[in-house]
Amino acid sequence: MRDKSYQDKAVIVTGASSGIGRALALRLADQGAWIALAARDAQRLDALAEECRQRGGKAIAVPTDVTDETQCKALIERAVAEFGRLDVLINNAGIGATGLLEELPDLTIFKRVMDVNFCGTVYCTYYAVKYLKQTQGRIVNISSLGGKSPLPYNTNYIASKYAVHGFSDSLRMELASAGVSVTLICPYWVATEFHERLMDKDGAPRGPQGRAIYNEKTMTADQCATITLKAATRRKREVLMGPGWLAVWLRVIAPGLVDKITVNMVLKPVAKRVERAQGKE
Ligand SMILES: NC(=O)c1ccc[n+]([C@@H]2O[C@H](COP(=O)([O-])OP(=O)(O)OC[C@H]3O[C@@H](n4cnc5c(N)ncnc54)[C@H](OP(=O)(O)O)[C@@H]3O)[C@@H](O)[C@H]2O)c1
Repeated sequence: MRDKSYQDKAVIVTGASSGIGRALALRLADQGAWIALAARDAQRLDALAEECRQRGGKAIAVPTDVTDETQCKALIERAVAEFGRLDVLINNAGIGATGLLEELPDLTIFKRVMDVNFCGTVYCTYYAVKYLKQTQGRIVNISSLGGKSPLPYNTNYIASKYAVHGFSDSLRMELASAGVSVTLICPYWVATEFHERLMDKDGAPRGPQGRAIYNEKTMTADQCATITLKAATRRKREVLMGPGWLAVWLRVIAPGLVDKITVNMVLKPVAKRVERAQGKE
C-alpha cells in the first residue's frame, strides 16, 4: 500500500533545487504533501514545483539564500501563509570545501560553509519552532556521517556538521515536552551534485570529475530521501548510513585506529578515483 504519512502535511525543504532535497520533494509530492521548496536557483525550483504538483502534491517555490536570516524568516512565514500550518522543517541545504586549513588564503570559504550548513539550519529552525509546536511537528536536519566521524582536509564541512549535531541534540531536549521531534540524518556518500560543487581552497567548484567519488554502490538521492522520510515519520533521533555505526562505535574504543582507517581505506582510494578522472579530462 502507498505510504501516505505526509498527505496534507505542510513541509519546508531547504536545498530543494537538487540532490537529496529534490528527491525529498518528489517523494513528499507522491504522498500528497504540501511543500515549500527553498534554494537559491529560482528556475529549478519553479520546474520542481510543477513536477510536484503533477505528482499530486501542492508546491510553492520560495527562492531563499539560507545564509540570510531575513530570507529564512520570510520562507517560514510564506509557507505558513500558503498552507496555514507547518508540520515538518527539513534543513537540507549544504555545501563544502576541501583543502588543508593552513592552505586556505583566508577564512572566507570556511565562514561561508558554516553560514550555509550551520547558520542556515539555525535561522530556519528559530523561525519555524512556534509553528511546529502548534502541530507537534518534526525537524529533520540533514547532516553527514562526517558530523560523527571526521575526515581530514574538510575542516570547514566537518565543523559545520558537528555544530549541527550539537544544535540538534540540545534542541531535541528543549522541544521534547512540546511533542516536536528532531531527527538527525547522517548520510554516507550520496550521488548528487554535491561533489561537483565541492570547492577547492580558492572557492572553485571541482566540476564533473567530482562525481568520480561515487561508484556503483553509492546511495542514490532517492534512497536517501526514502530513509529520511521514514525516520522522520517514526520520530527517530538519528540515522547513520553506510558504515556509520561501525565507525562511531569503533571511534569510542580505538579513535586512532579509525583515523588511520579513514585516511587509508576511505580517503586515499577516493582521491585516486578523482585524480584518475581529472587525468581523463
Ligand atoms: N552527497 C553526499 O555525498 C552527502 C553526504 C553526506 C551529507 N550530505 C548532505 O546532504 C545535504 C544535501 O546535499 P546534496 O548531496 O543533495 O547536494 P547538492 O545536490 O549539491 O544540493 C545542495 C542543495 O543546497 C542548496 N544550497 C546551497 N547553498 C545554499 C544557500 N546558500 N541557500 C539555500 N540553498 C543552498 C543548493 O541549491 P542552490 O544552489 O539552488 O541554492 C542545492 O539545492 C547537504 O547538507 C550535504 O551536506 C551529502
